[in-house]
Amino acid sequence: MKQMIVCVGLFGIIYSAHADDNIATLRGKVSIADQPPAPRMEQVEDKDIMRKRNYPMQPPTIPHKINKYQVDLFANRCLSCHSRQRTEDPQAPMVSDSHYKDRDGNVLAEVAPRRHFCNQCHVIQVEIKPLVDNTFEGLLHDPSTGW
Ligand code: HEC
Ligand code: HEC
Repeated sequence: MKQMIVCVGLFGIIYSAHADDNIATLRGKVSIADQPPAPRMEQVEDKDIMRKRNYPMQPPTIPHKINKYQVDLFANRCLSCHSRQRTEDPQAPMVSDSHYKDRDGNVLAEVAPRRHFCNQCHVIQVEIKPLVDNTFEGLLHDPSTGW
């Protein structure tokens, strides 16, 4: 029994030492007491080219910068281009009808409050090497929806 406990103990020590080497943290291989240099802030994609969607009902990614667009309790700058009334002048795609429905399916005159904070679902892109590999394959064709 004693031998077994020693064995399990040893395994635990070896395993944890091994695990430490392999755990990838965003901090990288810097000890917890040290302050690593801050990573470079990458350029936000601003090509105005809409990206393809990878599956039905994916919120499209944002193809332009948004750092000067205020979205808070009192204002929503996104809607000054993307609302139903505004799309002609800036030539921005209108938010879809789903954004005008509340959670009970009632169609509202204004964008529904649950769609107010656009960046909950829509995100900007930066052109960098992904932090982790991604093998996700989008739905190329779904006969049931005709996509
Ligand atoms: C000054 C006008 C303007 C403002 C403000 C604006 N957009 Fe846009 N947006 C556009 C235009 C124009 C396009 C079409 C592609 C392009 O030219 O970048 C677009 C494209 C998009 C798309 C891609 C739609 C698709 O079908 O692929 C998303 C998502 C989007 N914007 C979200 C936002 C969000 C979120 C905000 C606020 C944080 C915002 N936009 C603010 C003008 C604007
Ligand atoms: C809760 C998630 C969510 C929020 C919040 C949200 N959207 Fe969307 N949006 C989506 C999804 C999902 C789609 C794609 C399906 C659809 O059109 O309903 C979409 C589609 C769009 C499109 C493309 C419309 C089209 O017909 O191609 C635009 C533009 C857009 N959203 C802008 C916005 C703006 C601007 C806001 C903030 C006022 C916003 N969205 C808030 C989820 C969201």
